[in-house]
Amino acid sequence: ENDLGTKLDRIVLTEKEIRDRIHELAAEIDRDYADRDLLLVGVLKGAVMVMADLSRALHVPVTVDFMAVSSYGSGRRSSGVVRILKDLDESIEGRHVLVVEDIIDSGLTLSWLVANLRSRGPASVEVFALMRKPDALVADVDVRYVGFDLPREFVVGYGLDYAERYRNLPFVATLTSEAYDG
Ligand code: PRP
Ligand code: MN
Ligand code: MG
Repeated sequence: ENDLGTKLDRIVLTEKEIRDRIHELAAEIDRDYADRDLLLVGVLKGAVMVMADLSRALHVPVTVDFMAVSSYGSGRRSSGVVRILKDLDESIEGRHVLVVEDIIDSGLTLSWLVANLRSRGPASVEVFALMRKPDALVADVDVRYVGFDLPREFVVGYGLDYAERYRNLPFVATLTSEAYDG
């Protein structure tokens, strides 16, 4: 046992590491979208934290919208089946869209989502992902802004859940085997 308790094993990204990296990438986005009308599309529920922090770190004017899709279900792995649980409120025709994701694991969610959004006639679609895992490189997902490349281990916190828990941790951590037992 350590000071994280019996369920959390090791901190992978601290609050400060996350905050600093988001501000670095926000400065890039400010430059890239200086004279454009930017629409941030957050992917619920995991992207809630990064959407809140990234949008507040930007200086360019933005509008925000959300989609809810799910691929993990309640377990630890992507099922490959992407369901739209909530669609965008507004049309994205002619808009510059930046999809905001917490993590790209297999890349299945995002490759499906980007194709779906491109079919709606936007001016551009780019992707921001705070975290990316190695398998995402195999899937054909073109990510414009990446916060951190992580090893292939299951992580929770800062929006990421295991069976809907741990999303509200302000940092990213691994779980001990006890956490999976129930
Ligand atoms: C998680 C995560 C990403 C996606 C990544 O969402 O937030 O959206 O899986 O996995 P992939 O690259 O293998 O497709 P999840 O489907 O668990 O829904 P949630 O955001 O509501 O937790
Ligand atoms: Mn998600
Ligand atoms: Mg999930």
